[in-house]
Amino acid sequence: MQKIIILDFGSQTTQLIGRRVRELDTFCEILPYNKFPHNDPEVIGVILSGSPFSVYDKEAFKVDLSEIRGRYPILGICYGAQFMSYTYGGKVEPAGTREYGRANLQWMEKDNPLFKGFDDNSQVWMSHGDTITAIPQGFKKIASTEKVNFAAYQADGEPLWGVQFHPEVFHSTQGSLLLKNFVVDICGSRQDWSAASFVDTTVAELKQQLGDDRVILGLSGGVDSSVAAVLLNRAIGKNLTCIFVDHGMLRKNEFKNVLHDYECLGLNVIGVDASEKFFKELEGVTEPERKRKIIGAGFIDVFNEEAQKITDAKWLAQGTIYPDRIESLNITGKVIKSHHNVGGLPEKMHLQLCEPLKWLFKDEVRRVGRQLGMPEHLITRHPFPGPGLAVRILGDITPEKVRVLQDADDIFIQGLRDYKVNMPAEQAKKVLAAGSPLEYTDNGEVAVSLYDQIWQAGVILLPVKSVGVMGDERTYERAVALRAVTSTDAMTADWAHLPYDFMAKVSNDIINHVKGVNRVCYDISSKPPATIEWE
Ligand code: XMP
Repeated sequence: MQKIIILDFGSQTTQLIGRRVRELDTFCEILPYNKFPHNDPEVIGVILSGSPFSVYDKEAFKVDLSEIRGRYPILGICYGAQFMSYTYGGKVEPAGTREYGRANLQWMEKDNPLFKGFDDNSQVWMSHGDTITAIPQGFKKIASTEKVNFAAYQADGEPLWGVQFHPEVFHSTQGSLLLKNFVVDICGSRQDWSAASFVDTTVAELKQQLGDDRVILGLSGGVDSSVAAVLLNRAIGKNLTCIFVDHGMLRKNEFKNVLHDYECLGLNVIGVDASEKFFKELEGVTEPERKRKIIGAGFIDVFNEEAQKITDAKWLAQGTIYPDRIESLNITGKVIKSHHNVGGLPEKMHLQLCEPLKWLFKDEVRRVGRQLGMPEHLITRHPFPGPGLAVRILGDITPEKVRVLQDADDIFIQGLRDYKVNMPAEQAKKVLAAGSPLEYTDNGEVAVSLYDQIWQAGVILLPVKSVGVMGDERTYERAVALRAVTSTDAMTADWAHLPYDFMAKVSNDIINHVKGVNRVCYDISSKPPATIEWE
């Protein structure tokens, strides 16, 4: 499979570059800046990402490009462009103030192959603290902006470019065109990476790899493990046994509904209701990380117990996806939340690990799910944390609190699904997950539910009671917070600007129907500095 290598110098947008390349039906790998696969015959081009560092910082990530330059086309983005310029004798200096925001290109060489099809004042997105003040000898300037003299350059007569703007972000309006020019025209991608080709090759590989072996897979109800299960089911059928554990902190009726979905998909699935065990172990625990650890460990115990009944199992399959594995250059090295609940399973179980989705980004997993004929409501489900509602109940957990939260959450989520906004098809395609079917209205617009417009939503049960009045009665009951965010990858998120009439209705419905709640708030914090979950 042909591939583009993206060398990661630690930028927040490196994964986004990867996703943009994949959108061009081209496979790519994101690797740490110093791990270029020199002996891989499938590489057709290289992209150098941005970085939080300046090229002259002592700790800046530096790499020897001598074996890459001349062998492959190279595109340097932001720091990548500055690094190449600096390495080959140009000058990079602090820009005075950080250059951040929209800018428009002015051309020195508009017919350059990297910019084929670009408009006169094409808008780009800048975000850098340093700027290139001189390019190396033998390099030529292609474009500038009002504030940035060398917005784009090329090594004359060589397939090596640098751009100081970010073509991967949405606000660079022709950024995808630039990447297409690079990946398809310049690097020669055959564009043969697609959901259909992935399913065909992966099913064949799984058959080969697994033969008649028995495989166990832990289902969570989420998109990733579900797609992994259906893919494996296609390859090995009844030799796959799925285990779905209910830790008691799932959403309302989720265990029952999802089990039913799985059975309809023909999966061989064992549902284990272990809620009592988890409630007991969590009793009185208030510290968020301890809750996570207890649920993580308890999950492993329950899963293990079930898995051991399948005595001849040789493999443990997991729905690990590419972003879980990218060896990200965590500059600070600090753990904010421990997210990986099932880490440690294979070592304990002496099983070999099978991860059929390990090369896919989330949107690709959804495409594969559609390709496999899975129902849309399973494919477009919002992400949900492994420890479930436990990290949405601040303070200690009781079955009663879970019941209150489940009821409130159900009203909110159902409300988001029911509230539809009509918009032009072009806009709908941008809002919806790639490949989603479009629901046309009579006037040719597309109806998009609030649920499908946002990344994730949920309700948080707060550890406070407040005074209210219902009829003639004074009440003293709980407050809940609604949380809905837009995001592309959960690394950053913005609070969703939900319509007031919708919020009014949800608030009314929750207060009228959920016993124990008399106040509803809306969380208007973005990530960073807040996180998506409250714990
Ligand atoms: P935060 O709260 O860190 O969440 O902004 C980012 C994304 O990760 C999900 N999340 C978790 N997922 N186990 C998981 O499997 C966890 O412990 C966990 N905590 C947060 C969260 O729902 C969001 O999508």
